[in-house]
Amino acid sequence: MSAASVPTPRLIDRFGRQVTYVRLSVTDRCDFRCIYCMAEEMTFLPRNEILSLEELALIGRAFVELGVSKIRLTGGEPLVRSNVAQLARELRALPGLRELTLTTNGSRLVQFAPQLREAGLDRINISLDSLRPDRFREITRFGKLAEVLAGIEAARTAGFKRIKLNAVILRGRNDDEILDLVRFARDRELDLSFIEEMPLGNISEHDRAQSFCSSDSIRRIISSLFPLTPSMENSGGPARYYRMSGSDSRIGFISPHSHNFCHLCNRVRVTVDGRLLLCLGNEHSADLRAVLRDSNGDIDALKAAIVAAMGLKPESHHFELGGDTQIVRFMNMTGG
Ligand code: GTP
Ligand code: 5AD
Ligand code: SF4
Repeated sequence: MSAASVPTPRLIDRFGRQVTYVRLSVTDRCDFRCIYCMAEEMTFLPRNEILSLEELALIGRAFVELGVSKIRLTGGEPLVRSNVAQLARELRALPGLRELTLTTNGSRLVQFAPQLREAGLDRINISLDSLRPDRFREITRFGKLAEVLAGIEAARTAGFKRIKLNAVILRGRNDDEILDLVRFARDRELDLSFIEEMPLGNISEHDRAQSFCSSDSIRRIISSLFPLTPSMENSGGPARYYRMSGSDSRIGFISPHSHNFCHLCNRVRVTVDGRLLLCLGNEHSADLRAVLRDSNGDIDALKAAIVAAMGLKPESHHFELGGDTQIVRFMNMTGG
């Protein structure tokens, strides 16, 4: 067989789903402590347990050689780690990668947006749960709204292909800002996704069942002022999108509770200590760090371990809002 006719390898799980999207966490640390994401007191991984940037780049390469076309850098807050732009540059150069993206809390974008764009990062997602400084501080525990707003401006100036804002809406907390957030996004031609809170990690700050706000209720509030038309557009993530007339912004809904999207799942996650997580809502995993370090960085050993792990990918998650949290990992460890 000639080299040209060798088919590109693909990662297919037991349910016939192809994995084309990897969320690669570069740190579990964060300069915020968002109330839905973390407990106030957190312990983070010691340095010797986390992957080096070279190891992260090798993992990215292994996935792309296995047919992955989209990588998202996540955290924690990815930009608290040094040299993330350098990692981005290396990943972006991989033949076969169609899109390199990053999810950030925005606190350091004023400093990093230009170099990330220059490194080839295509798109960027920025969390924004409130436009009121006091409330923003309450939700993020440490965040300064003005810095994040300046970060959003810096990202716009840097010229990313698209910028998406992410808002986790909690009933009685920020559900009165839904329309303000939509206006903010509309005025700047940004996309905006509303996310249902997921029960990842035990938190005591609020009762997740009490604060649950469904995507459908948010959609009704928006439609009262800005009629929404369903769109077939897909960013490769779990959001369902709608369009508003007179605006280029897309409004997305990520609804792990009310509209399960597991049958369409195309993604896996790698934590910064090298655990390949097959599902956000389950514990099935494979230890890529051990494979890397035992084989002295052999990419074929890594690829074989990734292919074998596809057999572990579960069919779906089962989040329950009441009762005990089944997933004890916090979102910062999971990589969002
Ligand atoms: P796009 O590439 O813009 O579509 O981004 P994305 O939605 O894939 O990424 P982002 O980092 O902005 O994540 C938004 C929210 O979607 C986060 O809360 C993620 O945890 C959540 N999310 C992403 N993938 C999954 C998934 O497989 N299952 C569940 N339940 N939530 C997910
Ligand atoms: N449920 C839903 N979304 C969450 N995020 C962090 N923790 C949770 C949670 N428990 C969101 C952040 C960020 C994205 C990566 O994940 O707000 O936008
Ligand atoms: Fe940090 Fe993002 Fe978690 Fe907030 S949601 S604490 S910004 S990792």
